Amino acid sequence: MNTKLSDLRTPSLLLDLDIMEGNLHRMASHFRHGKVRLRPHFKNHQVLALAAKQVEAGAIGITCARIEHAEALVSHGIERVLIANEIAGERMVREFIELSRRSPVIVAVDNAKTIADMARRAGDRAKNINVVVDVDLRLKRCGVAPGAAALSLAQFVLEKGLNFRGLMGYPGSFRMVPGPEKEETVRSVLGPLVDTRKLLEGCGIPVEIVTCGGTGDYSISRTLEGVTEIQAGSYLLMDSEWAKSGTGFQPSLSVLVTVINKTGAERLVANVGVKGLSCEKGFPEVRGNPGLRVRDVNAEHTLIDILDPALAPEIRETLELWVRYLDPTVQLHDRMYGIRNGAVETEFKIER
Ligand SMILES: Cc1ncc(COP(=O)(O)O)c(C=O)c1O
Repeated sequence: MNTKLSDLRTPSLLLDLDIMEGNLHRMASHFRHGKVRLRPHFKNHQVLALAAKQVEAGAIGITCARIEHAEALVSHGIERVLIANEIAGERMVREFIELSRRSPVIVAVDNAKTIADMARRAGDRAKNINVVVDVDLRLKRCGVAPGAAALSLAQFVLEKGLNFRGLMGYPGSFRMVPGPEKEETVRSVLGPLVDTRKLLEGCGIPVEIVTCGGTGDYSISRTLEGVTEIQAGSYLLMDSEWAKSGTGFQPSLSVLVTVINKTGAERLVANVGVKGLSCEKGFPEVRGNPGLRVRDVNAEHTLIDILDPALAPEIRETLELWVRYLDPTVQLHDRMYGIRNGAVETEFKIER
């Protein structure tokens, strides 16, 4: 690519390739040996080329949350896609059954209605429809209760002739749990998932997959007997909020902005707001400039206090703001630019 950083329109989403690759290989190295595998979540970056890199680095497939992302991944040649989320209603069920003709995609289920709809729609192809039963691990989002409820749903899946592949449990993020307590907490939250596996197997139901885990707990979840794969996602790009949690993965994503106003030694204004940078987790920090502090972010403006006038850029100059909340910020952009040695090396399309 010939584009220089200074040729980019601002605001633009920048991906530091060296940092991203460091994160990629660091996570991959934990899954190179042993039985537990990595099937990383797509929703954090939504870039097909990055998903392909994750597979190249050893991931067994890719996890995602939406059918349209599963379709895009399959069309991109990614095999073993898991939709770690529920589908419901005629349209989603139809789309999933159609996609299953092209690839053995797996979807999470937690209710009899959707299972019955899938079986009816699939007809004599039901045995090609792959599902994992989603088990609620205290998150109180989707999923059935562990134990008897999960067993009876697995039995219903089998009764309806679908292909029961195993169990899934997403316990939420453990990033705020302090270090020493994390191990015990993760083990106690995930315990019912692996116990459910034993229960099913005790009833003669083979459980091929037990998928769980995220960036905050993968190092513990992958050591639990009975877990077969981890669906961590944030680790690849990280964001500046996540990076504080001490997982060792580094933030790689920033937004390039232009200084459009400077008021003496008091403040700057940059040309991005919440339409280009999610502030749900707080205001962004300025990358590599301790002399500036973001005071407020409006729809299209970021207001920055000057703490050290010697470090304050002038109107026309650019700055990088760290992305503090990865997923929603990515969703606001069509592309991200891969940067190395201060130049644009590549451009990634973001799936919407
Ligand atoms: C179902 C599911 N699996 C995996 C993940 C990935 O977790 P993390 O981003 O912490 O790696 C998420 C994130 O919210 C999720 O909702």
